[in-house]
Amino acid sequence: MKRLEDIHQLVKDGMASLDWNIAPNGLYDPIAYVLSMGGKRLRPALVLLACQLFDERIEKALYPALGFEVYHNFTLLHDDVMDKADMRRGKPTVHKKWDENTAILSGDAMIIKAYQLLAKCDASVFKSVFDAFSEAALGVCEGQQYDMEFESRTDVKLTEYLEMIRLKTAVLLAGALKAGALCGGASEKDADLIYKYGIGIGIAFQIKDDLLDVYGDEKKFGKAIGGDIFCNKKTFLLITALEKADESSRKELMAWIAKEQFDRAEKVKAVTAIYDKLDVRTDAEKAMREYYESAITALDMIAVSKTVKQPLYDLAENLLYRED
Ligand code: IPE
Ligand code: IPE
Ligand code: MG
Ligand code: MG
Ligand code: MG
Repeated sequence: MKRLEDIHQLVKDGMASLDWNIAPNGLYDPIAYVLSMGGKRLRPALVLLACQLFDERIEKALYPALGFEVYHNFTLLHDDVMDKADMRRGKPTVHKKWDENTAILSGDAMIIKAYQLLAKCDASVFKSVFDAFSEAALGVCEGQQYDMEFESRTDVKLTEYLEMIRLKTAVLLAGALKAGALCGGASEKDADLIYKYGIGIGIAFQIKDDLLDVYGDEKKFGKAIGGDIFCNKKTFLLITALEKADESSRKELMAWIAKEQFDRAEKVKAVTAIYDKLDVRTDAEKAMREYYESAITALDMIAVSKTVKQPLYDLAENLLYRED
């Protein structure tokens, strides 16, 4: 059985084995660039860990695992254009270092590459792995669409937000786990349970991302603090703040949301001060823990030994305390 560190090493080596030194370099260099900065590589680790629950021979899930990571990195290229983000993993984003057209086209190439990697799985599981991936990949687009639409609304309910983050973030984690489980020969029931675990950690993961966007350490987080405040993103913090605010805080918050000309740092500071006053951070942390617990409940129900599930318990717990 492989430990979490071994899994991360396998993913690292696998990613390093992909060759992007091909013509036209204008298409592939940005891909090599974003992938070389690593990131947590959570999704491929989930594919391998889920496979391991049902089969020790996790090599069979390696290419699908890499496919999920390449797909995830594609979403980042386009997401950073959509979110007007200048920094990712502590470096300039692709559309800043090159331009928006580059981010669009290199991103497109990454989706195709992701499918090619996925197709290297065992023929006996190809159809089900392909379906799990496609469903997740389309879900991300749906979530991203809601995320964009919510920017210009101020009446977004918490339930709508939770559905949005389920789609934009959780379904890819869940899909990665399901694909890995299928590669390992899991039963339908167990594949569904691991999917549920993925939705739980995924929603918790995005709430944590919202928290880090305001309260994180820019050096560790690798993204500019306050990006969500800048774009009027309807995050857990903003929605809860609008719900909890007294008349004067609400007015102040709405005024910042409506402003078209503003100093970025000033807006981030003012909105953060309102969050602090209303202590919405505590509400977000509580919600994050609830989704973490729901993930653990699903993991508990999977009919394999506790030992082989241990890395997935550890991983879920680590996500609660992550700083990047
Ligand atoms: C960023 O994903 C996008 C979200 C879903 C919040 P990660 O936080 O997994 O980014 P990397 O791959 O580790 O950089
Ligand atoms: C993550 O949303 C969803 C996807 C990238 C698909 P964010 O926009 O919050 O992700 P970051 O914070 O830019 O990584
Ligand atoms: Mg976004
Ligand atoms: Mg973003
Ligand atoms: Mg974010």
